[in-house]
Amino acid sequence: MVHLSLRQEESQRTISRNLYGHFSEHLGRCIYEGLWVGEDSPIPNTDGIRNDVLEALRKVSVPVLRWPGGCFADEYHWKDGIGPKEGRPRMINNNWGGVEENNHFGTHEFLRLCELIGAEPYISGNVGSGTVHEMQQWVEYMTFDGTSPMADWRKANGREEPWKLKYFGIGNENWGCGGNMRPAYYADLYRHYATYVRNYSGNEVYKIACGASEHDYHWTEVLMREAGRFMQGLSLHYYTIPTGNWHDKGRATGFDASEWFSTLKKTLFMEELIVKHSAIMDQYDPDKKVGLLVDEWGTWYNVEPGTNPGFLYQQNTMRDALVAGINLNIFHQHCDRVTMANIAQIVNVLQALILTEGEQMLLTPTYHVFDMYKVHQDNTLLALEFDNPTYTFGEEEIPQLSASASMDSQGNIHISVCNLSHDTSAELQCNLGDLVRTQVTGRMLCGDALDAHNTFAEPHQVQPVRYEGARLEQGLLSFALPAASVVVITLT
Ligand code: AHR
Repeated sequence: MVHLSLRQEESQRTISRNLYGHFSEHLGRCIYEGLWVGEDSPIPNTDGIRNDVLEALRKVSVPVLRWPGGCFADEYHWKDGIGPKEGRPRMINNNWGGVEENNHFGTHEFLRLCELIGAEPYISGNVGSGTVHEMQQWVEYMTFDGTSPMADWRKANGREEPWKLKYFGIGNENWGCGGNMRPAYYADLYRHYATYVRNYSGNEVYKIACGASEHDYHWTEVLMREAGRFMQGLSLHYYTIPTGNWHDKGRATGFDASEWFSTLKKTLFMEELIVKHSAIMDQYDPDKKVGLLVDEWGTWYNVEPGTNPGFLYQQNTMRDALVAGINLNIFHQHCDRVTMANIAQIVNVLQALILTEGEQMLLTPTYHVFDMYKVHQDNTLLALEFDNPTYTFGEEEIPQLSASASMDSQGNIHISVCNLSHDTSAELQCNLGDLVRTQVTGRMLCGDALDAHNTFAEPHQVQPVRYEGARLEQGLLSFALPAASVVVITLT
């Protein structure tokens, strides 16, 4: 029996809804087919954006959506993506499969998508191959209210009112696909570009600098030292790769218990990364004014056999559900520094929430975790303390449980728990202390195999069920989790 205790924290930290953010790149079938089908498509759509995906995204409460990349962002020239579609220039998507990009999905289409799903836009600007002037004009085009060359052009393209744009990234992975820069050079470029990203007409831009890859602590050190005072956010990218080998990352399905274990172990490394990057940020920014934005995270496997290797299309199983649940619990625990996170990616790419095949669509186990966990958005973090049992595999050990808890504005309590073990259930008893409530409900996600997943033939193999396994008696909440499961309990 695992004994937990729950209490309010003195510091009253808030779990920003933006920890539930998403990422959409011009990569494979994410934008084209996954989101955008065009106004003339036989697939039902609103202004070119497919209705089934819109409905699913509305249900899961997407707070913020990042676009147009990723690596694509540093080759993207926004002026190619506005105006009449027939006249938009074409380009090669050099990063992702070398396919032709017709620029039919551009600034207006992206911002319309955000409006339709109620998400804040987060746009990544081009530092790698774009100019300062181009970046300045993009922000002017989107946000200037009144008469200006860019605002007039926007109006001529059918949008009278400026958009509100808060989140703007100054480049992406500039240590790699965004220009192979060294940190001091990028820090100077960041300062240079950021100077011309203006606050027009009352719109205040939250400027995000390109942060480190994984455990590149030197990058964070240099960026915070040289440019920390010019930024509001600093990013961090970390992907879970089961084998740790970029050339053979492991399969999305058909894996064994050993790969299940290594995947979850590698996911838990997110905790160490956040702690260590935060410690560096604390030295330069003790008041935590600069947010750490984990704006790319998720699983990265070998692509599905027979698919374009540049399209990063992979299936999504119960293992991905666990990866999502663990990462979200980690982000909650660090919500004073981690103010946004964006899973990669929203549709048809990497750890997708949604997969499509022509007119068909399915929701993945990862989608269901986001749906179950959305009750935490904007809540106050609660302290949940327990002695975590050990999950042993061969010579290696990790904690068996991942958990977090929060209280919403009505005083309801939400507890999310993941059982990482592939073969051992867990019994838990939580002392609610002063936080006693009278009713308990819950939802559970588990599968009949470690790689249980949804297919277009059987789209509901893995979906949340009502959780009946919790009892509330004399201030104690008792519940049990099957192996390889995710549970979210609500106390009212
Ligand atoms: O998400 C896929 C790619 O991963 C992104 O384009 C890039 O930023 C990262 O390397």
